[in-house]
Amino acid sequence: GQLDKLAKAAGLKYFGTAVDNPSLNNQAYMKIARDKDEFGQITPANGQKWSNTEPSQGRFSYGSGDAVANIAKQTGQLLRCHTLVWYNQLPGYVSSNYNRDQMQRIITTHIQNVAGHYKGQCYAWDVVNEAFEDDGKFRQSAMYRAMGVDYITHSFKIAAQTDPATKLYYNDFNIERCCNAKINATIAMIKTVQAAGARVDGIGMQGHSRVGKSPSKRELMDTMARFSELVEEVAYTEVDIRHTKLPTTAADREQQAKDYLDVVGACLETPKCVGITIWDYTDQYSWIPGQYPGEGEACLWDRSYNKKPAYTSIASLLQSA
Ligand code: G3I
Repeated sequence: GQLDKLAKAAGLKYFGTAVDNPSLNNQAYMKIARDKDEFGQITPANGQKWSNTEPSQGRFSYGSGDAVANIAKQTGQLLRCHTLVWYNQLPGYVSSNYNRDQMQRIITTHIQNVAGHYKGQCYAWDVVNEAFEDDGKFRQSAMYRAMGVDYITHSFKIAAQTDPATKLYYNDFNIERCCNAKINATIAMIKTVQAAGARVDGIGMQGHSRVGKSPSKRELMDTMARFSELVEEVAYTEVDIRHTKLPTTAADREQQAKDYLDVVGACLETPKCVGITIWDYTDQYSWIPGQYPGEGEACLWDRSYNKKPAYTSIASLLQSA
């Protein structure tokens, strides 16, 4: 493996991948996932989410999250922790029936326990995930309805108290291509949260996009320049670039390779961009076909663990950087 090795030589902190629990007993999968020269960083795709870590109120379970976190412990890979407060994969008891004080207590308890459990293990935490709709309006999540934007400020403050050494990130999708309403809303929110006294260290751009329609390197860099004025680091946290038409042609796969190069190239040329995480490395475990039937093959390796042109192109770009 070589992506992380080359990425580090090119000045990034890591090149990483998401790892989900169903793949852990697949030896072919694990051989590559644990290869530190390939992936210097891993992210649990589901195990640390609220529905897994606090499925009923006040009862915490860390089995799924630990299964992935333990890999990083053994290999020395960095762990990006994902995610503390998100509207999705949220148990039913976190409902909008709560008033501000009750919601604040629920969030406090959740973060103190979960970030406390993983204290010292996370390079970064995605403290709050996906707070906005694409039009830049706040998502009407249970947390937002109870507390307004204060739920974000509060989450960052509790995370900072609980695990002071980890980098605290805001993470979202469709905030890659400069510049849309969601990017403007994100910037305004970060300023509000910081002005209220909370520390935000990083902005994570997920980077889910479509072959042939993904942002250009210029568009990506313009966004990161704006985010860089607010926070100490930025990162691509969940990159995959899916084909919208299957099966693919050789030309489609070459286009996909070019699209990935825009992301990697933009990060390399942005001083505050610390790394790139792909949202799983093989099509075998990609979330795309489940969510977008008929689309997919978004990853760098195919289902049979063959490297695609996108892999080869990224490796040579990193090598020449
Ligand atoms: O655990 C249940 C299992 O018991 C059940 O039999 C099965 C039947 O569908 O579902 C399983 O839950 C699935 C879960 O993943 C665990 O594998 C859910 O259906 C499925 O919806 C869920 O999808 C995850 C998705 O987040 C949920 O929104 C994907 O694996 C995960 O890759 C995806 O990741 C998100 C990031 O966290 C945030 N950004 C977007 C990204 C892609 O959606």
